[in-house]
Amino acid sequence: MTMQALTPDELRLLAEAGGAAPSLHNSQPWLFRPTPDARGLCLSSDPRRAVPLTDPDGRALHISLGAALFNLRLAAVHLGREPDVHLFPDGDDPHLVALLDLSEPAAVPHPYGRDLYPAITQRRSSRQPFANRDIPETVLGELMAAALDEGVVLSPLEEDGVRRVLSLTAQAEQRTDTDLARMAETRSWLRPEQPATDGIPQAALGPQDHEAHVPMRSYTGRPSTDATRSQRFEALPQLATLTTHADLPADWLRAGQALERVWLLATVRGLRASVLHQAVEWPDTRWGLRDPAEGPGHVQLVLRLGYGPPGSPTPRRPVSETLDLGIRQNTTV
Ligand SMILES: Cc1cc2nc3c(=O)[nH]c(=O)nc-3n(C[C@H](O)[C@H](O)[C@H](O)COP(=O)(O)O)c2cc1C
Repeated sequence: MTMQALTPDELRLLAEAGGAAPSLHNSQPWLFRPTPDARGLCLSSDPRRAVPLTDPDGRALHISLGAALFNLRLAAVHLGREPDVHLFPDGDDPHLVALLDLSEPAAVPHPYGRDLYPAITQRRSSRQPFANRDIPETVLGELMAAALDEGVVLSPLEEDGVRRVLSLTAQAEQRTDTDLARMAETRSWLRPEQPATDGIPQAALGPQDHEAHVPMRSYTGRPSTDATRSQRFEALPQLATLTTHADLPADWLRAGQALERVWLLATVRGLRASVLHQAVEWPDTRWGLRDPAEGPGHVQLVLRLGYGPPGSPTPRRPVSETLDLGIRQNTTV
């Protein structure tokens, strides 16, 4: 059975789900457009929303797009449509990162889609201290299996690995902190005044670690010396790396899909998460993130997982900006 063309309401639901994904500095570098027969959706990058000094190769941009793509897949299943995804379908257009053919009905039961869709609006970055409580091995195993399903390795780190990654993150954070141009770029994504449709509001920023052993990203410059802005973080954070075999844009998209799938499943299991990306942003510290025992691979992202308070919401661009209806522009969505 071939499905009908997507209705304006369905297109809006898809664009809202895609747009709820995490992105570097909440830059939301995505555009959505129905295919000419409206039985599918195109996901494109929006180069105007790049973060060029922090992310010169566009790696984080593609990870963000991958996360949006995973949400699109979930929303498609929610609409009863099976997402048949083609990465970079047009060799002449590097901005067209994925085409989702949504013309066939979704598999019933679906392996993951229906359980994870409700978590799209619940998932948030939590930059708060987490509790000193271990995550059960069974839950970590589920998260690893979810990433592997996306072709990406999630490695929860043991104590040695955590200390190595924290030290590299601290080095990278210090280096970024003294790079005036990068810090100006980062600060330009802060949104101290509401309302905004992108960037990070003050309320979503967390404290710095009182003991300075969990180097959270300082969005404002040097860590505040104000004691009220620093708190004691968990003694040994549960960190996990996401690693891909190769390091091409399609791998970054896979890493983004795995990131979102893991983050949504973690949310369903009552976990909070935040990203520690600083060490991935400098070639030498990124190289050091690799676990030599794991064999070859490229670390794409470091995730901090745990139990703790939820993060504050961050704004999103309206669908009228992210959903391009082309010739159907007069249609109300
Ligand atoms: C590639 C990538 C890198 C990120 N790097 C960091 C980071 O270093 N520190 C941090 O606190 N959050 C980081 N984030 C989280 C974003 O800031 C966050 O997703 C965005 O502000 C939207 O907020 P939300 O996750 O609560 O929806 C990163 C997200 C992505 C996708």
